Amino acid sequence: MKFFADTSDLDAIKDLADLGMLDGVTTNPSIIAKSGKEFLPLIKEICGICEGPVSAEVASTDFDTMMKEGKKLASLADNIAVKVPLTEAGLKVCKNLTDAGKMVNVTLCFSPLQAVLAAKAGATFISPFVGRLDDIGNEGMDLIHEIAAIYDNYPDFHTEILVASIRHPQHILQSAKLGADVITAPPEAIKKMYNHPLTDKGLAAFVEDWKKTGQSIL
Ligand code: G3P
Repeated sequence: MKFFADTSDLDAIKDLADLGMLDGVTTNPSIIAKSGKEFLPLIKEICGICEGPVSAEVASTDFDTMMKEGKKLASLADNIAVKVPLTEAGLKVCKNLTDAGKMVNVTLCFSPLQAVLAAKAGATFISPFVGRLDDIGNEGMDLIHEIAAIYDNYPDFHTEILVASIRHPQHILQSAKLGADVITAPPEAIKKMYNHPLTDKGLAAFVEDWKKTGQSIL
């Protein structure tokens, strides 16, 4: 299971890389806007830190401009995955860039049928947004279940399921149980996976008991 960081925060990306918990990075226009930084230099910098795929999203919605933007983004580094929206034009861009040997992440997926289209367009990754489905009263993880079941039926589909819009560790746990290839999550959600009150309690007791021995390992 691969962990992608859904952020453009360089310190957070470095931190996860140092922990060995970083297999890739995803960004989107909202994340870039929040950073307040210049898009292209920022993406290049992320690609310098992260060896795995770094998703950089096109900004236009028409085929011709998306193609130009996608080619430019792909030229920034070998590990760029061009992110395109799940629209007819976006899937056409996906097919063209995939045929040209580029990685493509198809984003804003909210239905299993959309995921089928992305796989047929040759997407490297499909990004179903689980949190945003939860937000409107749906069960986001049901979508992952359905996509996984469909993709399993067709060995010629090579698209990886990249669970996106993750809000908390439960989403990560469910993704793992369903065999999702990748999760992309805010670094805080990944860090929360370390936490368990019994670990803290157990460690505190071990530290106290060790003090009583009066010994030192070093
Ligand atoms: O990167 C796309 C996705 O992860 C966005 O998440 O929290 O804005 O729904 P969110």
